Formats: sequence, C-alpha cells, structure tokens
Amino acid sequence: MFYIPLIVGSTRRDRQSIKVAKFVLARLQQCPGVTTELLDLLEYNFPIMEERLHRRDDPPPRLQEFGDKIGRADSFIIVTPEYNNGYPGVLKNALDYLLPEYERKPVGIVTVSAGGFGGINCLAQLRLVMLGMGAFPIPENLSVSRVHDSFNEDGTPNDPAYEKRAATFLEEVLWFAEAIADRKAKEKSAAG
Ligand SMILES: Cc1cc2nc3c(=O)[nH]c(=O)nc-3n(C[C@H](O)[C@H](O)[C@H](O)COP(=O)(O)O)c2cc1C
Repeated sequence: MFYIPLIVGSTRRDRQSIKVAKFVLARLQQCPGVTTELLDLLEYNFPIMEERLHRRDDPPPRLQEFGDKIGRADSFIIVTPEYNNGYPGVLKNALDYLLPEYERKPVGIVTVSAGGFGGINCLAQLRLVMLGMGAFPIPENLSVSRVHDSFNEDGTPNDPAYEKRAATFLEEVLWFAEAIADRKAKEKSAAG
C-alpha cells in the first residue's frame, strides 16, 4: 500500500486551488493500493518558520504530525497556485520546516492559474526548490488554467480533458513511487 498525501499550497480567501486539490484527491483515492489525504496548510496554520523541525524540541502545534506524514509518504503531491510567477509564501514556509522527510522522495506538482498559462513559471520554481530539498519532482505535471471556469466547487472538471491528464499524471506519480519503494526495499533486505 502506498501512502501519497496531497499538500494544498493556497490559504487565500476564496481560494480556487482547493477545487483542483479535491479533484486530484478524489482520483488518487480511486487508485488501487493507494491511501491518501489532504494536508491543508489553511488548517495547519503554521507560524513563520524560525527553525526546521528536526532541530527543534518545541515545534509549533501539528508540525510534528505534518513532518511525520511527509516522512512516511512514498511520494507526495503539491497543488499550488501561481502567485507573481512563483508559488505562495505560505507553501515555502511550510516546506522549509522539513528536510530529512523529503529524502529521495518523488513529488508530483499540480499548478493552478486564473489565466491561460496554467502556472508554468511556478512549476519551474517549485521543481528547483524540491530538488534543493532532496526530493525529486517527476517529469509529468498537471497544470490547470482558467481555474474559475474549468472546475466546479465540488472538484469536478468542466473540461473532460482534465480526466485524461490527471490519469496520466497520477500514473507517473505511482510509477515513481513504486520504483523508489522497490529500491528502498532492496536496500533494506540487503542490510539484513
Ligand atoms: C498574489 C497573487 C498573484 C498572482 N500572480 C499570478 C501570476 O503571476 N500568474 C498567473 O497566472 N496568475 C496569477 N495570479 C492569479 C492566480 O493564479 C489565481 O487567482 C488563482 O485562482 C490563485 O489560486 P488560489 O485561488 O488558490 O489562491 C495571482 C493571484 C494572486 C492572489
């Protein structure tokens, strides 16, 4: 069983990315052999990062829980809007709290924008950041443009093309999760 949680990186009032997060979560829940859940930064409400989790003995509320979930994940997915060609500060703040938890972990990135470009600049930046953290962003991505019109509140897409694109994206997330899990299992059995 693979555990693949999904982080939603928008806490903005009237946030649209939550619709996309609900969609991806629902499709991931349909994948056999996968458990998942939404890690919502709005609910975690972490304070400004003063020090990383592994160096703190007084972590803010629920940070340990967040770290444990990423730490035991086989892979994880980030759904993020594009803000000023980048990703939201609240997402970077949360990601910066962790480090060993990301080691050799595949991450799938879903970007969201109100315009027609689907958050492509934010994708490039977040990929670089994840590499810096020791995770590796998978080559496939899912980008959502014109989010106000393309998704309903309950997370159903208005454009059927998103079903196919999400299926391809999740297939790749699972491929990398499985490949890494196999390798880690091999190392574990070699170590006795
Ligand atoms: C602070 C801010 C900056 C934004 N900058 C960009 C941008 O650089 N490129 C873009 O395509 N959309 C940009 N947008 C539009 C967002 O992608 C759009 O509002 C989307 O709905 C944001 O996701 P959210 O609703 O989950 O916050 C920006 C929106 C905000 C609030």
